[in-house]
Amino acid sequence: MLNDYAEWLAFAKKLAVTAGDLIIDARQSSTFVRDYKADHELVTSTDLAVDQYICSSITERYPEHRILSEESSPAMDLGGIVDGTPVWVIDPIDGTVNFAHGHFHVAVSIGLVVGQERILGVVYAPFLNECFWAMKGEGAYCNNKKLLVSGAKTLRSALVATGFPYQKTDLPPIVDRVSRVLQNCQDIRRNGSAALDLCWVAAGRLDAYFESVKPWDMAAGALIAEEAGATLGLYLPQTGVWPDAINGEGLLVSTPDLYQDLLALVDVSL
Ligand code: IPD
Ligand code: CA
Ligand code: CA
Repeated sequence: MLNDYAEWLAFAKKLAVTAGDLIIDARQSSTFVRDYKADHELVTSTDLAVDQYICSSITERYPEHRILSEESSPAMDLGGIVDGTPVWVIDPIDGTVNFAHGHFHVAVSIGLVVGQERILGVVYAPFLNECFWAMKGEGAYCNNKKLLVSGAKTLRSALVATGFPYQKTDLPPIVDRVSRVLQNCQDIRRNGSAALDLCWVAAGRLDAYFESVKPWDMAAGALIAEEAGATLGLYLPQTGVWPDAINGEGLLVSTPDLYQDLLALVDVSL
């Protein structure tokens, strides 16, 4: 099994780096076009092209595996999670708004789960030349450097990241949470890539992150944060739509010492 995991991880890293090259090329040559999903969610032709590249490469190499991918199979039948078939969870560009606006905070996110376990995660930031990765039980790394969460213990010293949904009608309770965090913590960041927010908690650049996100935003980054020593949990009532390993409905990730205090801030029902 471990041999399989190592092979899958090496494959995922190669995929992420090649996908990152496609992203850099598209931006340098300005060859992408913008569109909107569900009328309000930005998607570019590069999101679709990178998704297609990653998914077809996985299908070619591992035809028996399944894929849950933001752009081409967001409603994949999750029976694969239950029967133990490996499931790849893909966000071809996490940080599409950053990508389209010429920012550098952009990532390719590739996670793999088997049953209820997150097995591996690769989050590659092509403009920053940083590849974050983890394998279950083996620690988390940025390029070749081992990652460890910060030692933050108090809310007053905590730098906390979050994000906002494309759907503006969902905003009022989120703004309420942001206000509570702003009043009690050092500051807030909205960097525009959930996958990188999770990796930055792993790297100790952020002390915590909270947001309600989809499986493709968090499958890889959650394992990377966990393997670097972060505490992970949920602050919203659950709908039960997604299996636990890829569920980001009200995701709170922080240093172990901050977790309970932050949960009390962002769980408005407490
Ligand atoms: C978005 C980013 C953003 C987060 C949003 C996500 P996308 O993903 O991760 O930081 O706040 O919730 O939807 O659309 O760039 O893949
Ligand atoms: Ca995303
Ligand atoms: Ca995306």
